[in-house]
Amino acid sequence: MRHISVIGSGTMGNGIAHVFAQQGFDVALVDISEEALRKGVSTIAKNLDRQVLKSILTESDKLATLARIRTATSLEEGVRDADLVVEAATENSDLKLRIFGQLDDACPPQCILASNTSSISITRIAAATGRPDKVIGMHFMNPVPVMKLVEVINGYATASDVTERIVELSRHLGKTPCVVQDYPGFVANRILMPMINEAIRTLHEGVADVAAIDTVMKLGMSHPMGPLQLADFIGLDVCLAILQVLQEGFGQPAYAPCPLLVNMVRAGRLGVKSGEGFYRYVPGSKEATPVEFR
Ligand code: CAA
Repeated sequence: MRHISVIGSGTMGNGIAHVFAQQGFDVALVDISEEALRKGVSTIAKNLDRQVLKSILTESDKLATLARIRTATSLEEGVRDADLVVEAATENSDLKLRIFGQLDDACPPQCILASNTSSISITRIAAATGRPDKVIGMHFMNPVPVMKLVEVINGYATASDVTERIVELSRHLGKTPCVVQDYPGFVANRILMPMINEAIRTLHEGVADVAAIDTVMKLGMSHPMGPLQLADFIGLDVCLAILQVLQEGFGQPAYAPCPLLVNMVRAGRLGVKSGEGFYRYVPGSKEATPVEFR
């Protein structure tokens, strides 16, 4: 594989483009607007600067990485010569089904189509194409250049040689792939989201405040972020959507999203991206002040 197309230049998409380009692949980054693409590429440049500052990369590695990334606002133009497409658009099932239908029409017949979805069924996405054997999940973690895991998700019809190629490719990117089957939340979010939901319930019931809950999990379990801070980092709307997939998929009340989470999303308190969630954030600073809940 040589030509990789990444659909979506948001946090996950630009991180995925970054790691592929850094490992020498030619990357086409595709999004609907020039403005989104400019923002995506400037985030990649900023994150490459961090790596230069830490002596992980040289300045010339950085420039060569950026030179391997081209941008496109036309999907057809961006995927024409792709060996692999990694879709990292918004987590909306209708949108993803539509994109995969378009990819199926526009990509070369041998091209593998991967989705970075955090919880939408790969089997369902694959069924929107005429090549379900070549559709697979490639779930990267945020921040992509730092986190070592790629959760590789087999859809019902994914061919075993496609899984093997994606596993090998993930290792080539310096990541550790884990192959899992296509059931609600896969493995990462089936385990992570109930923990986050329980932390929100613990807060909602007044058992402890935001700082105490996060400190218990950081110092007691050696997590780099407490569950409430991590929920803010992921986005509360994303957490809610994943919990809804788990609730619907398993049909058990244990997965019901905490009413506090539902209310916060309705109120537009989405975490870091909206400036407030369980913490208040100051743009451009690492400062985070816990919010007091009544
Ligand atoms: N690109 C490149 N490097 C980055 C980076 C980025 N986007 N973000 C951070 N870094 C680097 C920093 O340069 C720094 O490098 P050194 O260790 O060499 O100094 C390192 O990562 C740590 O960064 P910071 O010092 O800025 O901050 P930190 O120590 O607080 O770590 C963190 C930040 C890596 C995000 C850490 O808090 C962490 O691991 N948090 C948990 C993240 C997590 O759980 N992610 C998974 C979320 S779930 C998901 O993504 C999937 C889903 O489906 C919901």
